[in-house]
Amino acid sequence: MAETMKGLKRTHRCTELSNANVGETVTVMGWVQKSRNKGGIIFVDLRDRSGLLQIIFEEGEGSRFVDAATFEKAESLRSEFVIAVVGTVERREGNTNENMKTGDIEVRATQLRILSEALTPPFQIEADSKTKEELRLKYRYLDLRRPDLQEKIMMRSRVVAKIREFMTNEGFLEIETPILNKSTPEGARDYLVPSRVHPGSFYALPQSPQLFKQLLMCSGFDRYFQIAKCFRDEDLRADRQPEFTQVDMELSFVDVDDVIEVNERMLKTIFATIGVEVPNPIPRMTWQEAMDRFGSDKPDTRFGMELVNVSDVVAGCGFGVFTGALENGGSVRGINAKGQGEMPRKKIDALVEFAKGFGAKGLAYIAIQPDGTLKSSFAKFMTEEQMAALVKAMDGENGDLLLFAADKNKVVWDVLGNLRLEIARNLGLLDKNQYNFLWVTEFPLLEWSEEENRFVAMHHPFTMPMEEDLPLLDTDPGKVRAKAYDIVLNGTELGGGSVRIYQDDIQEKMFEVIGLSREVAEERFGFLLTAFKYGVPPHAGLAFGLDRLIMLMTQADSIREVIAFPKVKDASCLMTDAPNLVDDIQLEELGIAVVKNEEEE
Ligand code: AMO
Ligand code: AMP
Repeated sequence: MAETMKGLKRTHRCTELSNANVGETVTVMGWVQKSRNKGGIIFVDLRDRSGLLQIIFEEGEGSRFVDAATFEKAESLRSEFVIAVVGTVERREGNTNENMKTGDIEVRATQLRILSEALTPPFQIEADSKTKEELRLKYRYLDLRRPDLQEKIMMRSRVVAKIREFMTNEGFLEIETPILNKSTPEGARDYLVPSRVHPGSFYALPQSPQLFKQLLMCSGFDRYFQIAKCFRDEDLRADRQPEFTQVDMELSFVDVDDVIEVNERMLKTIFATIGVEVPNPIPRMTWQEAMDRFGSDKPDTRFGMELVNVSDVVAGCGFGVFTGALENGGSVRGINAKGQGEMPRKKIDALVEFAKGFGAKGLAYIAIQPDGTLKSSFAKFMTEEQMAALVKAMDGENGDLLLFAADKNKVVWDVLGNLRLEIARNLGLLDKNQYNFLWVTEFPLLEWSEEENRFVAMHHPFTMPMEEDLPLLDTDPGKVRAKAYDIVLNGTELGGGSVRIYQDDIQEKMFEVIGLSREVAEERFGFLLTAFKYGVPPHAGLAFGLDRLIMLMTQADSIREVIAFPKVKDASCLMTDAPNLVDDIQLEELGIAVVKNEEEE
């Protein structure tokens, strides 16, 4: 029978006790990590969120001992039982434990209550669990008892508190925006919520508070922030969840540098809590430079292996793959994997397959042997001089491996950008203790969509073009750069934002270029366009992915590790089994009929 805690009050968390408390009578409560019966003496490791504390039960007469009944109760303790213990803090005699924060003390119990018993857990509650993630997620409430996961969740709480403190001190107001919305014009699919009152109509869950924060600027709040839940129905990866949290902000009467400056100081404050110094200012790189040097708009700058454009060097050579790509308006670029010239053929083949996964038709290579001879997949198409020129252009030295991709720029960047990361991962070049921050600026305003045969906004249609590029909107829209910026940390996009369009004529032009008629624009976000007619300040903003931020701060491999109750790849929750089928009555009320997919029947 479980007992109550009536008359007892917890005095300390486990690791709040130390030598300073020796002699005090304390009451501690928590979970049994493990218990050992040494015959007449029972040692129990008691666990709470702060850590472990050793409790000792010794049977006998007198104030330092427990009576037979209590001792028997202590004998019945099993892992994960929840107990309350009253006892005296004592210095451990001789056998201190240096691996334990409370390793030089113990609590000599005088009273024990079993507050609840526990089934044997399906896996051990311990740090660095080897248990499969599926099982851990099914029993997430147990998984969350593991100290390493608890530390991450606690760090998240501390960081959020720090952010609130920082933002508030900087004059930002925390304002909530609605969850039941009209769809926002960001890229992903919406999660829809049916309306009972308006049969056939749906709310969309916010992909971000974008439009509302711009409206708050129209209302004069001038500095807004929110720790905002966002929802996006997109394919999940290690750094993506269907619902995630943004640190969202918007500022009035500012330009790019103002947004960057306040965020640099915020990052500095946050990372100081883990002893990481964020440079001030954080280096900046234009999107064009990022693509040319790293093949990515979120370059990992912890290592080199930069891309080299060798189009000029191979122009007119005998290798059709190279010249063909150039004739199609593409390029030939390479990377130099230093010291990898003797990589076994099998491993090179694996890199070729990896490249194909990113759309490469192939991957050409030159393996420079230690004696300077060249092993290459395309030497037979080239003259010796051409090969030598290529090696020189790549700074190839004896023992290097040169890898080349030829295709449209977009493919070449993507292939080599990812290949460089893959090689770095394989070689263990990615140091999690190194934090390389980078602003990527001057993103293209528009992106050509092959599917839709039109330009689409790269960020969203309210992103301000750079002033000097405005004339290009008429002549060469693909070349227009935006006042948009991303903050990148170790190759992960931590956050992004932009200066917004607030002038009617520029907005009109933007809609025109992306083929959005005035009517459709009015229909979708007329409320914003109307609001702008009543006096809109120049404004700009940014949003951080909080989950990603905490993932990198805690050096976790996935954002699932820093979210208390995450979803898995197919967007389901293994613990609750969401999403689930609902009653016909519920559907009827909503006026919804589910069309059964024949294959599923
Ligand atoms: P953006 O779409 O770039 O910008 O999102 C901002 C940041 O949110 C994080 N993020 C995600 N994190 C986890 N799972 C996801 N599925 C996911 N999607 C995005 C990323 C990203 O950098 N309204 C604009 C911001 C602005 O312009 O002010 C916006 O939402 O870290
Ligand atoms: P092939 O003549 O098709 O056998 O190709 C010769 C070499 O060029 C092989 O190593 C291919 O992997 C490589 N290759 C093929 N297409 C490309 C490409 N688009 N870019 C780089 N290398 C390629």
